[in-house]
Amino acid sequence: MSDLVYVNGAFVTRDEAKISVFDRGFLFADGIYEVCAVLDGRLVDNSAHLDRLDRSVAAIDLALPLARDALIRVQKALVARNGVAEGLVYMQVTRGAADRDFSFPAGATPTLVAFTQKKQILDAPAAASGVSAISTPDLRWARRDIKSVALLAQVLAKQAARRAGCAEAFMVEDGLVTEGASSTVFIITRDGEIVTRPLSTALLPGCTRKAVLRLARETGMNIVERAFSIDEACAAAECFFTSATAFVMPVVSVDGRMIGAGKPGQATLRLREIYIETARATAE
Ligand code: PDD
Repeated sequence: MSDLVYVNGAFVTRDEAKISVFDRGFLFADGIYEVCAVLDGRLVDNSAHLDRLDRSVAAIDLALPLARDALIRVQKALVARNGVAEGLVYMQVTRGAADRDFSFPAGATPTLVAFTQKKQILDAPAAASGVSAISTPDLRWARRDIKSVALLAQVLAKQAARRAGCAEAFMVEDGLVTEGASSTVFIITRDGEIVTRPLSTALLPGCTRKAVLRLARETGMNIVERAFSIDEACAAAECFFTSATAFVMPVVSVDGRMIGAGKPGQATLRLREIYIETARATAE
């Protein structure tokens, strides 16, 4: 049986899930999205994702067509009806369908779609072995703090990574890593400091980043928010990236240069473990 997809108020099959070719998400990437993990059939850190959704839509002057409680009911209905034990819920809102014109259309109704994907997150083999990354220039626009559906630069970065047999692309601007194509990047220095770039318009405020920093702080780890270069990442003791769907993912090489011992670091694995424990305990 086909999974159900939510489209503007209705739960329909994948085949029935359609929007207009005049939708501004399609024509202009005039839209916002969110991705929330599902563990044990429950939503992980969902309020942080919904807070960021509110922030992103406000930043582009778009009103969500559903109130938060109704949105959560849609997410939960999809997870339950699609039988998702582990995976993700994707949500996207656009400015709706209207005659093609750059400026906002008068009276267009926002489009809201949501669907689920099943995915093995906890026992992902990549988490045990660690993954490799490439570096690539950050080609994106100047408001990367907005979770916009304009993802072409990330699509190209990820494809370059895949071509190189790697799982992630570390995007670099002015000699410093901004973030991964779909993740936040961290290093752990040989002095045991956890380093990640401070929030700004240069990167997405990762929900997993926030949770991991809180947990690291609680376990007494030393955190420094500053930007770092690829060279520094390669000289670090450990490296990892975080995202809603990868959790804490160890990185063992960048551009073919081995990091640390070339296998997942102890502190990274510990952070992954405590992140999973907390995610499980707090999912709703
Ligand atoms: N991406 N930076 C970018 C550019 C991202 O696309 C993502 C997540 C993150 C991590 O944010 P969070 O921890 O809140 O997931 C950072 C999602 C998973 C995606 O596009 O599928």
